[in-house]
Amino acid sequence: MRTYLETLGCQMNKLDSELVVGMLRESEHTFVDDPKQAELVIYNTCSVREHAEDKVLSRLGWHDKRQADGAAAVVGVIGCMAQRMGGELTQRFASVDFVCGPGQIHRLPDLIDAALDGRKPVALDPARSEPRDAAAEAGVNRLDVSRRANALADEPALATLCDAQAYVRVARGCNQFCSYCIVPFVRGPERSRPPQAITEEVRKLLDAGITDVTLLGQTVNSYRHAEPNGPTTRFADLLAHLSCLPGLRRLRFVTSHPAGFTRDVLEAIRGLPNVCEYIHCPAQHGSDSQLQAMNRGYSRAEYDDFVAMAREVVPEVVLASDFIVGFPGEREADHQQSTELIRQAGFKNSFIFKYSPRPGTMAERTYADDIPDDVKKRRNAELLAVQNAASLAHHEGYVGREMEIIVTGPSARHDKQATPPTPQRMQLMGRSRGDHIVIVDGPERLIGQYVDVTVTGANDRSLFGDLRRQP
Ligand code: 5AD
Ligand code: SF4
Repeated sequence: MRTYLETLGCQMNKLDSELVVGMLRESEHTFVDDPKQAELVIYNTCSVREHAEDKVLSRLGWHDKRQADGAAAVVGVIGCMAQRMGGELTQRFASVDFVCGPGQIHRLPDLIDAALDGRKPVALDPARSEPRDAAAEAGVNRLDVSRRANALADEPALATLCDAQAYVRVARGCNQFCSYCIVPFVRGPERSRPPQAITEEVRKLLDAGITDVTLLGQTVNSYRHAEPNGPTTRFADLLAHLSCLPGLRRLRFVTSHPAGFTRDVLEAIRGLPNVCEYIHCPAQHGSDSQLQAMNRGYSRAEYDDFVAMAREVVPEVVLASDFIVGFPGEREADHQQSTELIRQAGFKNSFIFKYSPRPGTMAERTYADDIPDDVKKRRNAELLAVQNAASLAHHEGYVGREMEIIVTGPSARHDKQATPPTPQRMQLMGRSRGDHIVIVDGPERLIGQYVDVTVTGANDRSLFGDLRRQP
């Protein structure tokens, strides 16, 4: 069956899409990159901001029109928006044949069969207050373990990792309830996977040729698994277990939460040679009153302490952050504090978002969305400009140094070079241990390999390097 899969949102969704591709490949699905050519269309959706949802709603409107014009494809919505809107999607859009929440994707083949039989199945996760469905939990966990590491080669929307890299989920859900955030509602309570299951999965990936693993969790550093009457595994313990596995060259993790970022995790980064010196640990804001209204659970001073501790314990650490501008009540003075935090912290990069009220969240129910869009836009542009200058300074600090990169693929602009690319020489892109993007000229066969480069230049997004020795 010709299938089109589009993925929006975070790495969790990318991983879920990878699992979907692996699962559907087992039952004669082939993947196409044009929804018009597909017999089955699946959207893996994100609810974090309204904009991401609007994109999918307009796609579904397009499918309704096509259906009215007589073109028939089976259309399914999976991911966070499926969970948030549920049956409303099948009611609003005649073209939508099935809806499936993130904790139910192991049932996808059955849902597709039911849709082909003319039913409109809706499979959602239990609400937070209801007991978790143990069979479903076991089902999704099994899916994680049986995943096809390398299912992505011809799935263009997902081609962000090379054959040597993989994501591994260590926990589902979130217990933080930041007041702006929909994730705790759509992804449910935090559940850490047993360390044995994670180790088994990583071992399988290593056997399949993966060398670079990124652990995923909404607040990954709060990972904690307690055996009944047995030992408790905390995040630093998990890093220590995994780092011993033969063949694992790089281990990193996203996304961290500043509250509860304990010294033992930093010591694990410093002490375990394959754990990379990269921490994505969003600050979200620089002002205490905004952090409090956001229910982030730390003050500005505590965030500053985290940055200082990270740099003290891991001198080479590379930090990255997220910020929200235009959260309700944000005064100009608050905004200046975010600006100042970016100036001081030395982040490699920050993702900056305009506040988007999400239905049912504490912030949406409590506060008016009182910052006008033009002010949000201006503040967004201001933070971005300050971060870009900081990113440039950060990158320039590496010029003249040597570093190891994993070559992940042709650079985004490899076909726009003055000399046309050949298999012997093209513009390649790689990643440093600190997650820097590094551009280097070299032969295509280096993709998936580790090479040493000398950094010769920098801009605010990337480093430029020369190959030192080829393996
Ligand atoms: N509006 C804007 N940005 C948001 N984020 C999460 N929820 C919202 C929202 N309602 C941002 C946070 C988070 C990132 C994944 O998305 O910065 O770290
Ligand atoms: Fe959302 Fe906060 Fe949980 Fe991150 S930590 S997923 S921002 S509630």
